[in-house]
Amino acid sequence: MTANRKKNSPIAEALLAWYDAHARDLPWRVGPKAKKAGARAKGAAPDPYAVWLSEIMLQQTTVATVAPRYAEFLTRWPDVKAMAAAPQEDILGQWAGLGYYARARNLHKCAVVVARDHGGIFPDTEEGLRALPGIGDYTAAAIAAIAFDRRAIVIDGNIERVVSRLYEIDTPLPAAKAEIRERLEKIWPEKRSGDFAQSLMDLGASICRPKAPSCLLCPVSTHCAAQKAGTQENFPVKAAKKAKPSRVGAVFALMNMKGEMLFERRPEKGLLGGMLGLPGTEWKESLNGDVFDSAPAKAKWKKTGEATHTFTHFHLTLDVYAGAAPKGFRRSSDQQWIRAENARVPTVMKKALIAAGH
Ligand code: ADE
Repeated sequence: MTANRKKNSPIAEALLAWYDAHARDLPWRVGPKAKKAGARAKGAAPDPYAVWLSEIMLQQTTVATVAPRYAEFLTRWPDVKAMAAAPQEDILGQWAGLGYYARARNLHKCAVVVARDHGGIFPDTEEGLRALPGIGDYTAAAIAAIAFDRRAIVIDGNIERVVSRLYEIDTPLPAAKAEIRERLEKIWPEKRSGDFAQSLMDLGASICRPKAPSCLLCPVSTHCAAQKAGTQENFPVKAAKKAKPSRVGAVFALMNMKGEMLFERRPEKGLLGGMLGLPGTEWKESLNGDVFDSAPAKAKWKKTGEATHTFTHFHLTLDVYAGAAPKGFRRSSDQQWIRAENARVPTVMKKALIAAGH
């Protein structure tokens, strides 16, 4: 720490002033007005548990999708000890439809570690946070900055776009990350680190959008190299994406006399690990062999439709079959009978249920 505090960079000054006036009102956020009004009052400081939960949920998922789901989580598990005490299945069920299910498994693991090894108190440094399950560089920095006001350099997709435009960084992402970090190191303020991070996020979400950014409204347009050159939309430069491969599979909707459907819990490791789903084949480049060998029972299977879904690394098409459980059918221990409308399943399986007529 230097003896005399450095003055804020002009970009930090401009963004913090803009944030004070225009911060988005988000459910997990203690905004500048609440901070000012509350000073030391309850609710004036961010709750690290709430910040952690929101940051995990917001990875790969939009603010609009997360907001209502975040409120449900917080109502059901108001603090880290409550979440740690819940069975993992409940967390996975509550997560259904949000995708990237490793986040939900790690959410629970992390809650258990914080409750058990840290007395229910989140570590307040980037390093301490990064040691927890499911917390990588981005999330550690975001929590350190937002919950604890540590000077931690936060870089998400919005911030990459803003910074690559400010400095016309023409190295393609992800290689440009190092340069983006260096630039941010130079302008990141000592104080109000969390507000600064969130001002960049909000700027990226509302003004410095990927297409047709609103440069006329931008508080840092006079500092922006891309704006001066009229090249905003050329940044960030991205490395060419590989084409996604396709896979195929079949799933089976087996019904019993009570109108329930057979679901099974997927193995803990692997895609959609630990989530409920319909029994079926493996997902491969082609369907070889007899798909009915993978059916949960010998039944009169009727193909009712197809479900398609795109994962991070491949496109999937599932043939969906429906049938009635034969007399004497017994489920195995990893299988459950559930009414289809009550099953909390990932989106690809929701699509399969619809293709099965539910
Ligand atoms: N996206 C990820 N974290 C966010 C935050 N704290 N505020 C706004 N958008 C975000």
